[in-house]
Amino acid sequence: MVGLEAIAFSVPHYFINLTDLAVARGIDPDKYTFGLGQREMSVATPCEDAVTLAAGAGRRLLSDFNVDPESVALLIVGAETGIDHSKPIASYVHEMLGLPSLCRSFEIKHACYGGTAGLFTASQWTMSGRAAGKKALVIATDIARYGIGTPGEPTQGAGAVAMLISDNPTLIEFDMDGEGYYSKQVMDFWRPIYSKEAFTDGHYSIACYLDALQHSYDAYRRASDHDGDPYFADRFVACLYHTPFVKMAQKAHRRLLETDAGAPFAPGSPQAKSAGDDFARRVAPSLEINTRVGNIYTGSLFLSLANFLEDQGGRAAGRSISLFSYGSGCQAEFIVARVGERAGQAMKRQSFRTILDGRKRLDVRRYEEILEANGAADLNDSKVCDPNVWRIDGPFVYLGVRNHQRQYVKGKKNNEK
Ligand code: HMG
Repeated sequence: MVGLEAIAFSVPHYFINLTDLAVARGIDPDKYTFGLGQREMSVATPCEDAVTLAAGAGRRLLSDFNVDPESVALLIVGAETGIDHSKPIASYVHEMLGLPSLCRSFEIKHACYGGTAGLFTASQWTMSGRAAGKKALVIATDIARYGIGTPGEPTQGAGAVAMLISDNPTLIEFDMDGEGYYSKQVMDFWRPIYSKEAFTDGHYSIACYLDALQHSYDAYRRASDHDGDPYFADRFVACLYHTPFVKMAQKAHRRLLETDAGAPFAPGSPQAKSAGDDFARRVAPSLEINTRVGNIYTGSLFLSLANFLEDQGGRAAGRSISLFSYGSGCQAEFIVARVGERAGQAMKRQSFRTILDGRKRLDVRRYEEILEANGAADLNDSKVCDPNVWRIDGPFVYLGVRNHQRQYVKGKKNNEK
């Protein structure tokens, strides 16, 4: 057996309220809150990058779940937000977390799919028997940037999720027999190497996502013993999706049920209404973190998983859940997992609500200053990464690039439990 033994996430110090953003952009706030389903969006300052977020999530996991760093023999970081053409985020994180030198560490990129690719690599390694009792740490870390005034602006976000994979899957055990994946070259979302901000064909990307969901779910169903069961999806106590914005998960869930039904639901039909009710019952309760953080690309799906495990892990023990991972470009995977018998107890750590409530709210002017400053954060000898200016105190702080090398320090929060 293989699966998750621990999970933890980190977010930047600041967030912006989406109603404030809508008002500043002259847009009806209902478009962001009801149309996209978002309330808040995490914002990374120049002193917070994909490395500090990843190390923050990893540090919280090791401390909250009492994991001995020496037990980790594989570290994989999945990220869209590359920081270097050569040196991986994983090398920095390996040192920051004090992992042993007898450890493989590397980075995987495939848009939002990188974290899932890491999970599978780690799971296969565990199952191969080569792990020999050691564990794998997989961290999905990203900062989603589209730029001021773009349609993608309200779907930005930042954060990281760390997951410990082992043969002691207290939280969830993956169904490694079932497989449902899908790959196709599409130009729905991309970020050229010269740009800090992503480009997207937004409406087309939604269509690509739904198409990939349908294909990968269908592949999973066909490969299963229950092929032909018209209510296949009913076996899942919760359905989790890659969530660039909450409305996307709602569209996805409807497509899942339509795939079972074999036809699209007509708008306003009883089936469409029932799909909406089912979304409220089996999907929406796991989306509170996503509503408050925004898109964190590789980690978005796993924010929902952390939310689900904390709120429902206890009563869902022994039941199956589904997880749908989508990475633009594109690669998709439909995953099924069983909730561990002790998942509820294991998740009794610092609540995600405490972590999110600890962030500070930005006004739109300050948010725009941060976005402008971020543009220079990785330039050699730039002065914008000043923790005093941005009031950042760790646990890890990015100080910018000196002599063409990225500089990091531990902040005050590093000593806190
Ligand atoms: P847009 O064109 O500005 O918005 O951009 P819209 O006009 O489509 O409106 C959005 C929703 O709000 C619609 O709901 C409107 O009806 C509603 P829907 O019809 O879809 O159900 N609406 C309102 N509701 C209430 N009151 C109002 C109101 N006005 C409108 N007054 C878009 C939206 C998502 C395209 C844009 O934000 C964007 O481009 N985002 C980035 C791309 C993205 O997130 N794509 C998602 C799928 S691809 C993916 O998930 C991969 C990704 O994570 C990257 C990776 O893999 O690394 C992005």
